[in-house]
Amino acid sequence: MKIVSTVAEVRKEVNEWKKAGLSVGFVPTMGYLHEGHESLIKKAVEQNDAVVVSIFVNPMQFGPTEDLASYPRDLEKDAELCENAGAKLIFHPEPEEMYDEGFCSYVDMNGLTNALCGLSRPVHFRGVCTVVNKLFNIVKPDRAYFGEKDAQQLAVVKRMVKDLNMDLEIIGCPIIREADGLAKSSRNTYLSAESRKQAVILSKSIFMGKKMIEDGERDAAKVISAMKDMINSVSLTEIDYVEIVDVNTMKSIDTIKGDILCAIAVNVGGEARLIDNFMMTVND
Ligand code: PAF
Repeated sequence: MKIVSTVAEVRKEVNEWKKAGLSVGFVPTMGYLHEGHESLIKKAVEQNDAVVVSIFVNPMQFGPTEDLASYPRDLEKDAELCENAGAKLIFHPEPEEMYDEGFCSYVDMNGLTNALCGLSRPVHFRGVCTVVNKLFNIVKPDRAYFGEKDAQQLAVVKRMVKDLNMDLEIIGCPIIREADGLAKSSRNTYLSAESRKQAVILSKSIFMGKKMIEDGERDAAKVISAMKDMINSVSLTEIDYVEIVDVNTMKSIDTIKGDILCAIAVNVGGEARLIDNFMMTVND
């Protein structure tokens, strides 16, 4: 496995693979990789001849008061995980390689981004769409892999690919959880021991909300209210949102029906803003 830092080096490698008739899988990440990322890389290795992982903490998707400076980084450990999972190339650019001095072109969207994380993080999805678009242009993958934990991001990227006629397949992979249920996230490392204990309430509320719907509840307000009560039952949590939306539009729904996304964002201990979700298809 190679680690490269320039666009030219990625293009050289990938062009050689393509000349040899190999298919290319791509896993974009911001590093500090955990089992969630590992599952994406393994899926990509399973479905493609050669896999590229990008590790780039993208400044454009962080707001001015967010955790860009403190976002955890550990290239050595990340490289070991990528190699063991079967990746062939890591692209690890400096910000200047991605955004030179005159940079002034962006990819943005209306609609899907005016809800959930898009409301609390107004610049986030413009940054994600722009960098993912750039990375797709650099790597030219046949398939790219995204975690369902970032369900809104997955929906946004799928829509962008469809709207802009990009020639690749987007594959969503299931949420990977800690033994107690907490969704794996690089940001879990921000949590103190006490906050970590309390953070399990996020997944508990997710499992409870899902069970209510499985048991026949169709009133979104009732599910949301029960989930909020559960999250608020521990002292260190502050809810950003608990929402049930149509997964295709990200618009709130009153009656649970069709393809739905129930998503939550919660600040825990003032240390980390964590997200979790479940998706379901309800046909009755
Ligand atoms: O999900 C992430 O880690 C990032 O948003 C992504 C897709 C790598 C873009 O920077």
